[in-house]
Amino acid sequence: MCGIIGYTGRQDAASIILEGLKRLEYRGYDSAGIALSGKGCAPKVVKKAARVEILSRLVREAKLAGSCGIGHTRWATHGKVSDENAHPHVSSDGVIVLAHNGVIENYVQLRKSLTALGYTFHSETDTEALANLVALHFSRLESLGVSENRLEEAVRLALAEVEGTYGIAVMCVGNPDEIVGARKGSPLVLGVGRGENMLASDVTAFGGRMQNVVYLDDGQIVRMNRDDFVISTLKNESVAPVLNEIDWRMEDAELGSFPHFMLKEIFEQPVSLENAMRGRFSQDASTAQFGGLNMSARELRQVDRILFLGCGTAWHACLLAKHMIERYARIPVDVEYSSEFRYRNSPLEKNTLVFTISQSGETLDTLEAQREAQRKGYRVLGISNVVGATIPRENDGGIYQHSGPEIGVASTKAFTAQVLVASMLSLYFGRMRDLSFADGREMVKAFQSLPGLVSCVLDQAENVERIAKRYAGCNDFLFLGRLEMFPIALEGALKLKEISYIHAEGYPAAEMKHGPIALICPECPTVAIAMAGEMFKKCVSSIQEVKARKGDVIVVTDCPDDLPDGLADEVIFVPRAHDCILPILATIPLQLLSYYIAVARDCDVDKPRNLAKSVTVE
Ligand code: AGP
Repeated sequence: MCGIIGYTGRQDAASIILEGLKRLEYRGYDSAGIALSGKGCAPKVVKKAARVEILSRLVREAKLAGSCGIGHTRWATHGKVSDENAHPHVSSDGVIVLAHNGVIENYVQLRKSLTALGYTFHSETDTEALANLVALHFSRLESLGVSENRLEEAVRLALAEVEGTYGIAVMCVGNPDEIVGARKGSPLVLGVGRGENMLASDVTAFGGRMQNVVYLDDGQIVRMNRDDFVISTLKNESVAPVLNEIDWRMEDAELGSFPHFMLKEIFEQPVSLENAMRGRFSQDASTAQFGGLNMSARELRQVDRILFLGCGTAWHACLLAKHMIERYARIPVDVEYSSEFRYRNSPLEKNTLVFTISQSGETLDTLEAQREAQRKGYRVLGISNVVGATIPRENDGGIYQHSGPEIGVASTKAFTAQVLVASMLSLYFGRMRDLSFADGREMVKAFQSLPGLVSCVLDQAENVERIAKRYAGCNDFLFLGRLEMFPIALEGALKLKEISYIHAEGYPAAEMKHGPIALICPECPTVAIAMAGEMFKKCVSSIQEVKARKGDVIVVTDCPDDLPDGLADEVIFVPRAHDCILPILATIPLQLLSYYIAVARDCDVDKPRNLAKSVTVE
């Protein structure tokens, strides 16, 4: 949550920072701000409780100029959404300017002691305490006659007094070319250029400007100017930087001809799913293979229980993983919310393998759950999308989804790739156990047919749009599915909630009669996923119960001809396919439905209220 960026070089810093902030807006968009340093004068700050687009106009009007600066886009934690609470924050003596992502937990005590020393506060944020604390140490160092690397040292001393999490970018008066950054619990990446360097919460902010990056670790601090950078630890030990080249495709982060990133990302799924599979089937084509698990076949065979951890949509992917792995590999699987796991004393069996699933690779709850499992001595593998993010860097091995950047706050292509990887894992573990060669080969064939089948579902976008318009005025929805379609029902309901602000619930279809049936009325439509097979008739019975209570039903099915006449008010067809890929096909219409409903309700699809893409606070 919150995006920070810093630039020091020879170009117009304001335009580079504003561009970067636009790309970081998915991390939070309650307010935005920028500060540019000036020679011999205090940094100039423009900030507003508004989107980056508005900030850009204000920056132009203010004629902000300079070649070194920092910027911030906020997801509010401490203090309401207001101009005063927007970052960057300037210390009350005007010497330090600071942008922060994270939470300073002991800010109340810090505020009190700083106030007693004469520092004043103009916002309700926790961050302002840190700005003033850095200023305090900066002035103390000055009175001790320290001039070399004074900002870095002041930041180091201040952070030693701070409890909580932070990714920060800091500038000071008197050294207009210098930025100091530090991280603990919130991501920070250094971009290394020629005659210019950058800092940001993630690489997308660089927009292709920086090909070489250094991912900072927790407890590290970087001091940089346009020509140089130095990394050290908070304990002042030097750190040898590890340069990573980033493979950046500008068009991945641009809208192109699509009105919203969410729609673009929904339509990218034939390609993103293909990318998740590339090179991952064995020569004899009866199993999957993964390069980065860092476990021998023998160790993998000894696994007799798996625990999946994730949040939100990724948690839904964990539920799917349970269904798939238990079905095809016959390994018992548990699923926990990351946020619950880290505080529970879950009794795990000795040979439990833990998996985390996280698109961003930065979700704090999942990161901490991973650390907790590792502390307890369990091996943790991950399924992640963002290369170089903290979760994949800290886990013991894992699988990248290769979905490309997902900008829309509502996760779409990342979810289907997570489900696909989980399903491929079920094949992989299954073939190490009892799954037959023939069954394995059938699954591989099914996976390979997936991109084409997804395109067939996408071809129905117009039909789904029509249905969306018909029901866009409703304020309650029920989503029903059974077995592996239950997590898909949950995901459909979450998508609708997130971007349309419609109350929606996902249930296993048979559970409806135990409570949710009370919601059924003509104004509460039900989306029922009813696929051919042993559960079909059971789903039809649940739909009958809805119809008997005058509820409308939108049926997502691969066997529309088997539906009793007049049962469905609307039908969305998905092609008949192997069960190992069917949940992915069932997901696509629900993504489209929520998208078109949100558009019909004039909602801000890519930046829904109160949300942020990457949740890096607890
Ligand atoms: C998805 O639409 C949500 N915005 C959210 O639930 C998300 O999936 C969750 O915060 C986990 O994110 P992660 O995959 O980056 O860890």
